[in-house]
Amino acid sequence: MAGCSEFRPWAYLLPELLGLIFCKLSLQEILTVVPAVCKTWNDIVLGPYCWVDIDILEWSIMCKPEQLDRMVQMLLTRSSGACSRLTVSGLHTESIFNFIADNSESLKKLELPRSEITDAIVEQLVPRFSNLTSLDLSECHKITARALEAFGTNCKSLVELRRRMHPVDMGEIVFQDDQLYAIANTMPKLRRLQINYLPLTANSVLEILSRCKDLEYLDLRGCWDVKLNKKWIKEKYPNLKVVGPDILDFLDNSWEDCSDDSDSSGYSWMDEEDGVSDDEQVLDDFQIHFFGPDLDVFASLTIGFP
Ligand SMILES: *[C@@H]1O[C@H](CO)[C@@H](O)[C@H](O)[C@H]1NC(C)=O
Repeated sequence: MAGCSEFRPWAYLLPELLGLIFCKLSLQEILTVVPAVCKTWNDIVLGPYCWVDIDILEWSIMCKPEQLDRMVQMLLTRSSGACSRLTVSGLHTESIFNFIADNSESLKKLELPRSEITDAIVEQLVPRFSNLTSLDLSECHKITARALEAFGTNCKSLVELRRRMHPVDMGEIVFQDDQLYAIANTMPKLRRLQINYLPLTANSVLEILSRCKDLEYLDLRGCWDVKLNKKWIKEKYPNLKVVGPDILDFLDNSWEDCSDDSDSSGYSWMDEEDGVSDDEQVLDDFQIHFFGPDLDVFASLTIGFP
């Protein structure tokens, strides 16, 4: 590095900071490359600092089903109760939901898309999720209004809820307004609500508007039967941004407008289909070099921000 006269070994970085840096690597790199560098780094990867934010969404979509529970158990065990966000797709055994509940002391954000969690499991475990602020139950087909009500009744700090279904779920229309009524009745503090491809009528949406007074962002893309008078909504709820039900609505950059609000959550509702969020766009790729004891570079990693 030209112009860098002072050499500071990586080993002097606080473990917490190294943990934050390692978090930017892929799961495979954290679990295989980093521990091989030195004992200190191995200890960090074994400890909680890398696992405050456990986002293995990408890995979990690709992995073999039998690997999934073991990975979640291993990472939550390493987090030693410090995990504040868990993002994983496709969980399907009852034992893993129990395990998550047993290790959820610090959990604020729980994102379990495509999981097979049921109403009964939710009702049994939800008291242990009472500190959640953000919840993603997208494409969880085994839950109904009952589970939503249980979450709402127990999680009084919930400000974000996402329940995004798949377009094929719209095949046979059974209106699911009771899900929105459960939300309206039990989650008055919601600020962001995303409901996609769920058959709804406008009545339940109006109930949300009148009960959730703090709502800033409502995404109804794909809920085709919801006919809203957007002009009326704009006048009556000036602080609310409504997107959808037309899916083309997402071309209007609505998220960017909304994300300017200073939001302590730092949670991005963007995903691979919607594009990238602002803070991802400003970061360029950068490289980390791993130095051996003789200070030769023996491994390099390029960290990409897509
Ligand atoms: C919620 O957070 C408080 C304060 O951090 C903590 O004492 C309590 O145990 C947490 N509740 C659960 C169910 O983890």
